[in-house]
Amino acid sequence: MSRVLVTGGAGFIGSHLVDSLIEKNDVVVLDDLSGGLKSNIESHMSKDNFRFIKGSITSNDDLERALEDVDIVLHFAAQPDVRLSVQKPYWDFEINVVGSMKLLDESRKNDVAKILFASSGGTVYGETDEFPTPESTAFRPISNYGAAKGAVEMYLSSFSTLYGIKCASLRFANIIGSRSTHGVIYDFFMKLKRNPSRLEVLGDGRQEKSYMYVSDAVDATLCVSQNIDGGYLPINIGSGERLKVSRIAELVVESLNLEEARIEYTGSKRGWAGDVVITDIDISLLKSLGWQPKTSLENGVRKYVQWLVNTYGFDN
Ligand SMILES: NC(=O)c1ccc[n+]([C@@H]2O[C@H](COP(=O)([O-])OP(=O)(O)OC[C@H]3O[C@@H](n4cnc5c(N)ncnc54)[C@H](O)[C@@H]3O)[C@@H](O)[C@H]2O)c1
Repeated sequence: MSRVLVTGGAGFIGSHLVDSLIEKNDVVVLDDLSGGLKSNIESHMSKDNFRFIKGSITSNDDLERALEDVDIVLHFAAQPDVRLSVQKPYWDFEINVVGSMKLLDESRKNDVAKILFASSGGTVYGETDEFPTPESTAFRPISNYGAAKGAVEMYLSSFSTLYGIKCASLRFANIIGSRSTHGVIYDFFMKLKRNPSRLEVLGDGRQEKSYMYVSDAVDATLCVSQNIDGGYLPINIGSGERLKVSRIAELVVESLNLEEARIEYTGSKRGWAGDVVITDIDISLLKSLGWQPKTSLENGVRKYVQWLVNTYGFDN
């Protein structure tokens, strides 16, 4: 039995990880609830092997409390919004880079054995023309969010060599599924909830990206955690499938039985500043660890839309 700290454990991916880890580990969650919800972890609150600390990765005091006797850190806390990182770069830096650096430094002082970091395969490579994109591709991020993820990855590399901590950067595809409160599917659902007859899509609809269903992302994370045997491992985490934004719009409209809704594109190549138009990460390394996806993307989109309907309601 290990003691695992999940930063951002009340958030979307983090809380699904907690659901899985709690079966065999002591789990500590450090989350400031700026984006996550206590209700995502409510079912664990009374368990002896669970501890929730409402606090920030930017506070050394909170980190010290959270890291007591911890063996493994799964670092999922972040300001996750690319658009906000473009509007407020220094604020984004203070959470995503300085906060992460404080966590790494406190982890070193507390003799943590292993750190897995939620990086982003959709943003660190930027606009590469190498598809599918392998882990060896140079970083050329086009958003501050992607730059921050890349910076933290560099420190994981140095920390693994200097202090002997086993480290992995999980370069996630776009993750979808229950409890997610951001991203393109969430935005489409909320727009259609406000106006079921029309869906405005930012961009020309031809943006095409790697996606993955959340339960597969959790399985892949645990698979990597079991397989790092030393040093530093950067690894792409995706399903191997990609979806066009126009197809996602159709799937959301179909899942809501709104076949009559007009889908209108704003027309630009990029949806917003910092949006990478095509992402297609190579998952050969992940597959070589014996991992396989279990949920097809189109099914994943439908399951997620059903969860949105059950959670927020939908009248048409
Ligand atoms: N969802 C995706 O598609 C995706 C893709 C690539 C990478 N990631 C990364 O995975 C991680 C989890 O993302 P998510 O989609 O679950 O987002 P999320 O917003 O649901 O989860 C992030 C959590 O971090 C918490 N948090 C934010 N700032 C904090 C701080 N200073 N101290 C403590 N907690 C803080 C939030 O309250 C939230 O619970 C993030 O690092 C994100 O950048 C997500």
